[in-house]
Amino acid sequence: MISFKWLKRWMPRNLFSRALLILFVPVVGIQVVSASVFLSRHVDGVTQQMARSVGAELNYAVSLLEQLDDRSAREQQLETVSGLLDLTLFLDETQFSTGAQLGLFDISGRAAYDVLSMSIERPIHLDTTSLDKIMIVQVRSDVGTLTAFLPSRRIVASNPHLLLTWTVLASAVLATISSLFLRNQIRPIRDLALVSEAFGKGRSEIFRPRGAEEVRRAGSAFLAMRTRLERQIEQRTSMLSGVSHDLRTPLTRLRLGLSLAEPGPDTDAMVEDVTEMERMLDGFLAFARGEGMEETKATDPAKIARTMVTNLRRDGARVTLLMESETPDDPTVDLRPVAVSRALQNLLTNATRYGDRVRLSMRMTRVSLEYVVEDDGPGIPEDQRELALRPFSRLDEARNQNAGGSVGLGLSIAADVARTHGGALRLEKSNDLGGLRAVLRIPR
Ligand SMILES: Nc1ncnc2c1ncn2[C@@H]1O[C@H](COP(=O)(O)OP(=O)(O)OP(=O)(O)O)[C@@H](O)[C@H]1O
Ligand SMILES: [Mg+2]
Repeated sequence: MISFKWLKRWMPRNLFSRALLILFVPVVGIQVVSASVFLSRHVDGVTQQMARSVGAELNYAVSLLEQLDDRSAREQQLETVSGLLDLTLFLDETQFSTGAQLGLFDISGRAAYDVLSMSIERPIHLDTTSLDKIMIVQVRSDVGTLTAFLPSRRIVASNPHLLLTWTVLASAVLATISSLFLRNQIRPIRDLALVSEAFGKGRSEIFRPRGAEEVRRAGSAFLAMRTRLERQIEQRTSMLSGVSHDLRTPLTRLRLGLSLAEPGPDTDAMVEDVTEMERMLDGFLAFARGEGMEETKATDPAKIARTMVTNLRRDGARVTLLMESETPDDPTVDLRPVAVSRALQNLLTNATRYGDRVRLSMRMTRVSLEYVVEDDGPGIPEDQRELALRPFSRLDEARNQNAGGSVGLGLSIAADVARTHGGALRLEKSNDLGGLRAVLRIPR
């Protein structure tokens, strides 16, 4: 099969330019071909006819002159014929070699020479270059060399520049009009792309489907999908917070009851259980709230990182902070600061819980923001990373023995936050620390 890969490299990237190209390349091609065919046909045909009649005229003059023996009579005849044929004619003994002296691209001159030498049937010479717009034809006759000076337009069809100019002008005007229409057709597609992109980053922008039927349908389908998604998230959120809230009341009662009961090892264990359950409920609530309606705003992500690290150090954790930015002149990123802080907090809590030394690195490029949290703990084996990202999933119990009160939501909240910003959370193995390496990536 023929491969069109090379074409891809030369194709413009956006739809508008592609459509323009697809529209205009064939049209321009057809115009060029048909104009050149028409012009060469037209020019050739007219040139041949005109050259033939000039040839006949010269033939006529030569035959008249050859009938006369007397030199002065020939002179007189020459004058009469000159006037009659509207040509400037001379008769002398000049010698010439047959052939043509033409410009490099003088195709019609070549055609004129061929026709002339055929219709005159004597040695002739054609010169189109010596004089401007004048052709010199020399014919060898029995009575000497007949030289004729005639305006080029008597032999060669004048180039129909006008036709070309009009064609080009009309095409340009029509092309401008159609590209305006095309732009209007493409705008709704671009709008749809923009609003979908924004929704991917968690922003719900106003959008009204318009344009051609297919585009409008895609737009309406997108709107319906967006509404459905928003409703689903809302339902999930309200269910989670509802359940957590409703469970909290009996739990409080239980705690109250326990505090009135006889103290002893049994009740102590029960109190601990109740405390853990309350912590879990807090986790659920935080998860549910994570999808709340915090607005995105221009935020300095370095500040978030610094605050996090300061807080952790205050709690006695060994944390290093690395920051690197390729865009120091543009330090802010559009994000939801509270959500991102929570995500980062979860990753760092995990790191300090399962590891000893922790490193937070922030990397900003023109297109993305990356927080990388690494630790020197046991890490997560590759085949369990996906599981660890799911809500309420805690990995093997052995690992979590001193991790009381963990709900298994931290990583999934962080992944959710990344997703609502159009980004992703990636789990890897830290190369130098040896533990887990969590990469929270947010596109800018
Ligand atoms: N840095 C880490 N090193 C090793 N294992 C980890 C690390 N982070 C998470 N894990 C594993 O992934 C599981 C899921 O983590 P996640 O943060 O979602 O829940 P959790 O920490 O158990 O509970 P929560 O964060 O809700 O209190 C953890 O139970 C733990 O087994
Ligand atoms: Mg956690």
